[in-house]
Amino acid sequence: MSNTRSLREEHQVILKVLDCFEVALTRARADGVVTSDIFAPFVEFFRGFADRCHHCKEEDELFPCLNACGMPRDVGPIAVMLHEHRVGRAHVRAIAESLPAADDADAAARQAVLQHGFAFLEMLRNHIFKEDHVLFDMADQMVEGSAAAALADAYRAREVSPDYQQTHDRCARIARELRERYGSAARGTSP
Ligand SMILES: [Fe+2]
Ligand SMILES: [Fe+2]
Repeated sequence: MSNTRSLREEHQVILKVLDCFEVALTRARADGVVTSDIFAPFVEFFRGFADRCHHCKEEDELFPCLNACGMPRDVGPIAVMLHEHRVGRAHVRAIAESLPAADDADAAARQAVLQHGFAFLEMLRNHIFKEDHVLFDMADQMVEGSAAAALADAYRAREVSPDYQQTHDRCARIARELRERYGSAARGTSP
């Protein structure tokens, strides 16, 4: 079994929420309504599922494993992916911090939510594409045998921890709700 399969499956969940996010951002830009009611669930999903569950598996398990197999950490694909995780966190933080003022109809805060939102959307879609088509293909080639088994065990150990499960379940519910809210408009953008 591919040692990146579970991460690739998580990408599909994230991509579907990004499709919903694009619909929400496009509507907000068109009608000028930017509120916590619309965007707080996305912030919670991106922080919980995309970052705390998924990116941390990459950063704490996959990337060190690739590093141990000979891929450098400070240059090349791992360095680029780590940098993009940091950029993504900064965008999500800026969105979260702008929402209270956006709720008070502050024009600059509304603009900041939209600007950081669209930038995050594009960045994360490209990031996932690079992982799916470059880094993960390399990982599937490089990590074999006992190293692959140890990596699978490490993912499982994370997935059964109560903190991970709570976050994962809450965010899976948010993803379902977002699909119900925006899914018909978003359908077809991602597989
Ligand atoms: Fe990543
Ligand atoms: Fe990823």
